[in-house]
Amino acid sequence: MTRVYNFSAGPSVLPESVLHKAAAEMLDYQGTGMSVMEMSHRSKPYEGIIYGAEALLREILGISDDYHVLFLQGGASLQFYMLPLNFMTLNKKADFTLTGNWPARAIEQAQTLGTVNIVGSSKDKNYWYLPEIKGADKDADYFHICYNNTTEGTQYHQLPDVGDVPLIGDISSGILSEPLDVNKFAVLYAGAQKNLGPAGVTLAIIRKDMMERIPANLPTMLSYRTHVEARSMYNTPTCYPIYVMKLVLEWIKETGRENLFKRNAEKAALLYDCLDSSAMFYNPVEKSVRSLMNVPFLPRETDKTKADAITDKFVKEAAAAGLVSLAGHRTTGGMRASIYNAMPVEGVKALVAFMKDFEAKNA
Ligand SMILES: Cc1ncc(COP(=O)(O)O)c(C=O)c1O
Repeated sequence: MTRVYNFSAGPSVLPESVLHKAAAEMLDYQGTGMSVMEMSHRSKPYEGIIYGAEALLREILGISDDYHVLFLQGGASLQFYMLPLNFMTLNKKADFTLTGNWPARAIEQAQTLGTVNIVGSSKDKNYWYLPEIKGADKDADYFHICYNNTTEGTQYHQLPDVGDVPLIGDISSGILSEPLDVNKFAVLYAGAQKNLGPAGVTLAIIRKDMMERIPANLPTMLSYRTHVEARSMYNTPTCYPIYVMKLVLEWIKETGRENLFKRNAEKAALLYDCLDSSAMFYNPVEKSVRSLMNVPFLPRETDKTKADAITDKFVKEAAAAGLVSLAGHRTTGGMRASIYNAMPVEGVKALVAFMKDFEAKNA
């Protein structure tokens, strides 16, 4: 069996020990004689899994009893609509920063339900920086940011000052990459398929006072109230992804949060240092807001045809060397290495060695 180093932006690499554990428990989950996929979500063993995952999340992320923790479906993309539907309900206006293609989608959805005030945009420079905030509205129902921009590789290492306006964060690709104070947010949400587990489950963390804003007549499945009241089991949850998420959380607990953060900083430094000293490639993002998780890089070559040829060759040869999914997002071009929590340091070292070798051979 050969495992590659997988730099995919999501679904993405999972810890190998998690995959082994899931494999070992596949036919008989802890003496139940069945796999988690075959198990009633109303059974005691499954309750242990879903509530166990919630308890681990609360412990690892430091989520207090002031918050609900939900496991939802529909991806982070459904949250783009559910958030304004449930919470943009007082003055029907919200502030957003436009920092990439994912927040652009969140804005599009909110605009169907009320007034979106874009209080900062980095679109003028392909989103390669995070914008200053101007004209924030103290009467906005909330302020939305994309904490880590998966496509463009920027990250809010410092949160914007939003005063008393509730802050909502899309943390799909940034969750557990570095310390983050949940208490600074009214709502956090994340698709699991980057740092938490397989695709299918979406995490939402909602401060309890926000619940008062939810209109009474929403479609059942689109109301957070439904999911809070049923503890994420109004209907059948995504049983297996939640189980794997629990295994990932156990792995994080075992590794230690601080060790994980240290390792993330080390991996990112290895890659950014390599790019900063490369004559062939560069990372276009403003240094202070570089993402720890998603690292786009482009050829320095300015002739587009030649640059595209370098990109193609790099991506193909890297894949042949066992370093896969390095093509950049279609909107940014170039390359991107996603180095989520489960990417071992050795994977980043292998990529750096490959880049240096490629540059030497193709200079
Ligand atoms: C930051 C961010 N938000 C939202 C999404 C959309 O998530 P989903 O595919 O789960 O709807 C993604 C997916 O890559 C993302 O990276």
